[in-house]
Amino acid sequence: MSPKSDGAGDDSRSVEAAVLTCDGTVVAVARVMSVGPKYIASIIALSVSCSKPAEKHDSKAPATSAVPASQKTTWSNDPAIERRANELLAKMTLEEKIGQLNQYSHGHATGPETGNKPVEDMIAAGQVGSILNLAGADKINRLQRIAVERSRLKIPLLFGLDVIHGYRTTFPIPLALAASWNPDLVKRTAEVAAREAAAGGVRWTFSPMVDIANDARWGRIIEGSGEDPYLGSVMAKAYVDGYQGNRLSDPTSIAACAKHYVGYGAAEAGRDYNTTYIPERRLRAIYLPPFKAAVDAGVATLMSAFSAMNDVPTSANPYTMNILKREWGFKGFVVSDWTSIAELIEHGIANDGATAARKALLAGVDMDMESSLYLGELPALVKAGKVPVAVIDDAVRRILRVKLALGLFERPYTDDKPPAAAIDRASIQVAKQAALESFVLLENKATNGIPILPIGNKVRRIALIGPLADDADNLQGAWAGWGGQASAKDVTTLRVALDGYAKEHKLEVVYERGTEIIGGSDAGIAKAVAAAKKADLVLLAVGESGGDMTGEATSRTRLDLPGHQASLVSAIAAAGKPTVLLVFSGRPLALTPYVDGVAAVIQAWHPGIQAGPALVDALTGTANFSGRLPVTLPRSVGQVPIYYNHLNTGRPAKNTDLTKPGTGDAKYKSRYIDEQNAPLYPFGYGLSYSQFTYSPVTLSASSLSAKALDRNGTGITVRATVKNVGTRDAVEVAQLYVRLRGTSVSLPVRELKGYQRLALAAGESREVGFSIGREQLAFWNIDLKYVVEPSAVSIWIAPDAQAGVPAELTVTP
Ligand code: NOJ
Repeated sequence: MSPKSDGAGDDSRSVEAAVLTCDGTVVAVARVMSVGPKYIASIIALSVSCSKPAEKHDSKAPATSAVPASQKTTWSNDPAIERRANELLAKMTLEEKIGQLNQYSHGHATGPETGNKPVEDMIAAGQVGSILNLAGADKINRLQRIAVERSRLKIPLLFGLDVIHGYRTTFPIPLALAASWNPDLVKRTAEVAAREAAAGGVRWTFSPMVDIANDARWGRIIEGSGEDPYLGSVMAKAYVDGYQGNRLSDPTSIAACAKHYVGYGAAEAGRDYNTTYIPERRLRAIYLPPFKAAVDAGVATLMSAFSAMNDVPTSANPYTMNILKREWGFKGFVVSDWTSIAELIEHGIANDGATAARKALLAGVDMDMESSLYLGELPALVKAGKVPVAVIDDAVRRILRVKLALGLFERPYTDDKPPAAAIDRASIQVAKQAALESFVLLENKATNGIPILPIGNKVRRIALIGPLADDADNLQGAWAGWGGQASAKDVTTLRVALDGYAKEHKLEVVYERGTEIIGGSDAGIAKAVAAAKKADLVLLAVGESGGDMTGEATSRTRLDLPGHQASLVSAIAAAGKPTVLLVFSGRPLALTPYVDGVAAVIQAWHPGIQAGPALVDALTGTANFSGRLPVTLPRSVGQVPIYYNHLNTGRPAKNTDLTKPGTGDAKYKSRYIDEQNAPLYPFGYGLSYSQFTYSPVTLSASSLSAKALDRNGTGITVRATVKNVGTRDAVEVAQLYVRLRGTSVSLPVRELKGYQRLALAAGESREVGFSIGREQLAFWNIDLKYVVEPSAVSIWIAPDAQAGVPAELTVTP
């Protein structure tokens, strides 16, 4: 356990680091050098593995490499920051150090109330390091002034908030943004959010949520980027880059927080806060990569999850924290989730607050959100020798590092000018583009050879029906308005935008709400049907509500349209007019009962403030659809969890007819007797107003050697030509998938390894090429080593996870 040192200077000193057992007790103390003034190593051993005996991992593996966090942002390895953090640390009393680890909510609670705290006096006494849930320069400056002017060491507070899909400008929900498959666009939304939040005094967002999720019952599936670790990693980086900018110290940058470390999205039965069981191989292959991508992008903080993974609550799991801080070299800090340290008692791994605090801190959770247990219990634990000061110092140093990096010591206050009356045009434009690129066109059936969309010239009268057509509040999505400035008033609904379009184009639009989103009755359905019958086209806007049905603590056991909306859809379908079903939801719904009776289906998610204008552009063909599903859409809730990158099983259904119960050989398959295996729409799927063909996939060589690749040998190139054979310019997302067979462990039937968004003019062809090398072929093998093994590899370049014909590659020893 010798520390890394750049050998600079000889004024080195050493600190102590605890080595812990699985129950968090200190069993050994390791000496860790801190070498100054140029470089100070942080504690290198905080924990031992608790889920399983320590195993060797390939050092080049992406999810466990010993390579330090990205050098791109300089906050994590800036010698000046290290020096200042240590100078400050040297002046702090134990109580002041512990105060830095304490975070309180002030404002709208985002969890169970924990009671009023005399927060102002506590800030003055140096007992609070961070405040969450407060927004607005005036309010934040007021508390900051107490910290900076009245506390002994004048350490500024760090103000955090859930800026999830926008602060003032509300963008589509994160799951929708992932449907854009466009990281540059997602980065731009995060830049806008950062600029607005920072102007309101908020320099830390609890975003991005990078939890992989494949269970649509889980309400928080809305907050992530879907089911795939590759797409999830691309998006994780995009958010971190957008929030944190080139330099954290830029006053328009905010610190990001990758959450919820780790595995929260695997909640059993989709019930929020529930237990997860994730074997280590799967943890490393599926759940860790987006966190690693965030760390590599320089994310400043992570949040530990509420859930227990493999029987160890993640807010006190030394094993997963060890991966983060030791294997990956993460230099920022970990904040607990809301009272998740106190919840260790309910989890059953602590019988009192002192044990909970000790276990969480020793595991590596640096900041306590709302439990007050660090503040209350750590002083005595230190004095009793149950928590080494070195561990507290490490946590404080991490927090100071981020505060210093943000420039809070130089600029603790935010310019207190009144917020602009209106959102600026540029931000609105980003919101519109983001909404537009998030829509996924699922169906566009043709009558007499003419697809129903875009809306044609013959349509003169449109019936706009449904509870989401004009519901500004719910179109915003789950996490809108937390900054106190975003408001439903900023939303242009579909009804408003369509009315505007209709006036210009001499169309008639008749609006009927039909029923409510939740509850309500059938009473308005007859009027809606009457309106539909008189129309040339029906736009039917249905779905889930934003705040009540999606986001935290909104798990569902059903994936249907709530309230009386199913009756509304069947009544409108029975009216016999061409109908476009617009589904506004925060999760994949099981749309099977609704799609047959309609002519077109759009997955519109919760699109944010520009819902209406973006939809009108897409529906009328002013713009094209380009979104692709970041999650599988199931046929029925019984298929859930359903995801494209599953294993094959020993009895795959292959070509068995699954529409009826099997007899004979068709029975003994991995299948249902009452449902098909395939989803309604697969991962990666989405239509546009054009069509594309893919040529056969070609390989630059039909074999390559595993050993050569492991020695950094070059791989091969795979190519295909994609042609826009339609009559409109459009974007196609060409997706690279692989399947490896003959390996030491079973690997998924397909895994996304890359993709390219191609803007192709009508008639245009383009050859796409992807490299296939170690990055695409290595995996966590039976010995939990990240290696390339001899195998037979199928490679697709395809429009979605079910389409295409693969080319075959042999990986030789
Ligand atoms: C609980 C949620 O799980 C987390 O995502 C959020 O950031 C915190 N509350 C703070 O509001």
